[in-house]
Amino acid sequence: MTAMSLLQRALEARANAHAPYSGFSVGAAIRCPDGSIHVGCNVENASYPEGTCAETGAIAAMVAAGRRAIAEVLVVAEATAPVPPCGGCRQRLAEFAGPETPVILAGPDGERLRTTMGALLPGSFGAGHLPEMPA
Ligand code: THU
Repeated sequence: MTAMSLLQRALEARANAHAPYSGFSVGAAIRCPDGSIHVGCNVENASYPEGTCAETGAIAAMVAAGRRAIAEVLVVAEATAPVPPCGGCRQRLAEFAGPETPVILAGPDGERLRTTMGALLPGSFGAGHLPEMPA
């Protein structure tokens, strides 16, 4: 049920993807512990490295809405194999998620693979590795 509504929201976002260079549209939907859902799509740029991923857009929308915790994330794209978040997005998601946080990889027709942040980004660097900030 939850995954279905996440998929629906991610597909709506994906329909707005700006992907004229790759032709590869991606949508992402994040559910927060309070049940709110925040979405993003990839936004490419003529200066190729300046493009942003769907997950990054969803994280920005979540933070702008005042949320700081990811309960579940779904990524939807159309490809032969399920499409996982790229390395940079795994790190960005990990900032607000835990190792057990579910990551659902979906195609337009539904869920294809269910994994976790810990499986996608083992041994990750996080705030705990930073020296304590002076008060
Ligand atoms: N892309 C995403 O938006 N999320 C991913 O998890 C993988 C890749 C985008 C970036 C680029 O706009 C296009 O897909 C092709 O790499």
